[in-house]
Amino acid sequence: MGKITAAITGVGQYLPEYILTNDELSRMVDTNDEWIMSHTGIKTRHILKGEGIGSSYMGARAVINLLDKTGVDPMEIDVVICATVTPDMFFPSTGNLIADQAGCKNAFAFDVSAACSGFLFALTTGAKFIEAGTSKKVIVVGADKMSSIVDYTDRSTCPLFGDAAAAVLLEANTEGFGVVDSILHSDGSGEMQLYMKAGGSRYPASVETVQNNWHTIMWDGHAVFKAAVSKMSDVSVEMMERHNLKGEDIRFLVPHQANLRIIDATARRMGLDHDKCMINIDRNGNTTAATIPLCLYEYEAALCKGDNLILASFGGGYTWGSIYVKWAYDGENC
Ligand code: UT7
Repeated sequence: MGKITAAITGVGQYLPEYILTNDELSRMVDTNDEWIMSHTGIKTRHILKGEGIGSSYMGARAVINLLDKTGVDPMEIDVVICATVTPDMFFPSTGNLIADQAGCKNAFAFDVSAACSGFLFALTTGAKFIEAGTSKKVIVVGADKMSSIVDYTDRSTCPLFGDAAAAVLLEANTEGFGVVDSILHSDGSGEMQLYMKAGGSRYPASVETVQNNWHTIMWDGHAVFKAAVSKMSDVSVEMMERHNLKGEDIRFLVPHQANLRIIDATARRMGLDHDKCMINIDRNGNTTAATIPLCLYEYEAALCKGDNLILASFGGGYTWGSIYVKWAYDGENC
């Protein structure tokens, strides 16, 4: 029997109904559609409305969609891993809540916190359970309600983010399909470039933290942009070199959707044409841990068995990485 790899055998998603347009944003802060489009490539983003619902609400719906599509019984799921920076609560974990709401009663569940690289970190972790032979069916879900931590009076951050969840199912494969390799990095010295200051143990919520607006995303957008361009390209090129892959060998780059200019720069460094880049930032914005599985969902029909994909991300922390995936099944258009 060949080596066991973790194949992605299905994808599911949930996008909230409400669509926040650039025109609506331009009535909230001093911005306009032309600036947002030319600087980010974002036209619209989805926002989760409603009292008392958080990331687990979206994550559970993405998992239910995944289970419906694949016909897998929720009771067969062994592990649920949720990547998120907007958990419903500090504890219990959002993965735990998602597993319960989606009926995965036999699974153990937990969260991974790696900001925009969360899905890659969680996918690598999930793959290990399959490779070790200890789990047969693992769900990795990225879920973020970014609107809960965005300051809608700050024009430098509020156009960028949206809410969504998307999930993949991992199962064992012995023909070499699935997660072939993964390179992950973190550098905590980037903590002050992109962070949410309060609400944790360093600055627990208080009148002062609320008055100072410390419960929303803060960043040095320019520094993050520069670091994202170099780190995301470097790690993607490193993955190509490690596996002797040329541009023509790659079917798609599946990049984290933070800014269209970062995606374009990464693709150029990899020698890929624009049409080999999965892109949905125009409609969804940056949904943090959900961007990469959302792309897989949207392009699923075009993916064929054996296609080489490079998943790549950069985000808060800093965290960054790339994963080489050999796609395991034919989409409708193959
Ligand atoms: O997912 C995690 C990773 N995230 C990222 O990698 C995102 C990283 N950062 C970025 O994508 C970009 O830095 C931004 C899109 C946030 C900003 O783009 P930029 O080209 O770096 O613009 P900037 O911050 O240098 O601002 C240029 C100008 C400034 O005006 P002045 O000082 O030149 O007069 C800003 O005040 O644009 C102004 N500006 C805006 N104008 C209209 C900033 N935000 C806006 C806005 N509308 N929304």
